[in-house]
Amino acid sequence: MPTTPLPFERATVVGAGAMGIGIAQVLAQAGLHVCLYDTKEEALKRALGKLHSTLGRLVEKGRMTQEEVGALLARIQPILSLREAADSDIVIEAIYENIEAKRSVFTSLDDVVADHCVLATNTSSLSIASLTSGVKRPDRMIGLHFFNPAPLMPLVEIVPSLATDPAVVARCIAAVKAWGKVGVVVKDTPGFIVNRVARPYYAEAMNMVEEGLADVATIDWAMTHIGGFRMGPFALMDLIGHDINYTVTETVWKQFYYDPRFRPNLLQKRLVEAGWLGRKTGRGFYDYPSKASSPAPKEDPALGQVILERILALLVNEAADAHYKNIASMEDIETAMTTGVNYPQGLVSWGAAIGFGRLLSILESLQQLTGDPRYRPCPRLREWAQSSPLQ
Ligand SMILES: NC(=O)c1ccc[n+]([C@@H]2O[C@H](COP(=O)([O-])OP(=O)(O)OC[C@H]3O[C@@H](n4cnc5c(N)ncnc54)[C@H](O)[C@@H]3O)[C@@H](O)[C@H]2O)c1
Repeated sequence: MPTTPLPFERATVVGAGAMGIGIAQVLAQAGLHVCLYDTKEEALKRALGKLHSTLGRLVEKGRMTQEEVGALLARIQPILSLREAADSDIVIEAIYENIEAKRSVFTSLDDVVADHCVLATNTSSLSIASLTSGVKRPDRMIGLHFFNPAPLMPLVEIVPSLATDPAVVARCIAAVKAWGKVGVVVKDTPGFIVNRVARPYYAEAMNMVEEGLADVATIDWAMTHIGGFRMGPFALMDLIGHDINYTVTETVWKQFYYDPRFRPNLLQKRLVEAGWLGRKTGRGFYDYPSKASSPAPKEDPALGQVILERILALLVNEAADAHYKNIASMEDIETAMTTGVNYPQGLVSWGAAIGFGRLLSILESLQQLTGDPRYRPCPRLREWAQSSPLQ
């Protein structure tokens, strides 16, 4: 008889930044006792202050009672020494994206936590395997990739490394569900599902601007008004911040041995160099706080359809490639894109609705026209063009 995986009762979150405090809230809300550790006392104070005000707003809106908030906060204990994490069943590391710093957290934990404790990382771009180097028990290490803001975004990518014990994976799948999240299992590959499959949403939009096919406002209009995406690629890059978005693209590209399919764009590099990082600096592709000075979109439905289908052709090709390389199941690829980046439809079902053959011919025409291997169709897309997987 299969046994039910043991739930986690005591957790430690390492790093009280944007992600750490959000993850601590998710776990405490699910009833776990959470130690929140940071090397800086200031960071802990700031994070807990932020959590107080977030929860205060939920009480004002009637979504939580004062008692529930009190109980939740009582379950989060700020700590300034990792030794206090000793009785944890799981530790989730969410410190800044630096391989040496993260490795040092995990090697320190080796001497602190008990044998049964699972060690997880929230890294976005480092391989889980690279973080197991030097630790005593790589079999208990795993990636748990939450999205920002963690309390609101449902998706968690569950990323075993080659060495992860299947029992640890099963335990994390059950735990993520118990925490009220949607888990998808993905191989330890660059960008996991979301940050890999979503790359063309940004890159192809910038390619079209570079070519002069359409301007920023028109592409954003096409993707939101015709495509139904919540934000157009340019408004979204401005929100994420070009420093972060460019770094993710560059990292994925380098980790795929400079595959042209992931090549970054000079347009964005120049924004980063100029310090036009988006909303946070008041200027990116648009001028902030208001976008009033930006040119109006050219609301041409035929052009809008060309823009949408071109970006979709690349996105669906990427989803097909993720499936072809067996990084995740088709269902998990669909779920990841609708819950991790709020795409209006799963890419495979969207591709089936438009017709895989049509998307394939868009890619082939672009490849022929430009000679750029960025547009090479994935073998799985060719198969789906012959026989749709959703028929
Ligand atoms: N911000 C996002 O949108 C996002 C989304 C998903 C995943 N991630 C990943 O989550 C992780 C954290 O990102 P963030 O945006 O929350 O970072 P952040 O810069 O907001 O916070 C990092 C925190 O870690 C603390 N810290 C640094 N070194 C430490 C150490 N050795 N021990 C304990 N605490 C330490 C810092 O004081 C800071 O409070 C990164 O790996 C990032 O790639 C970020």
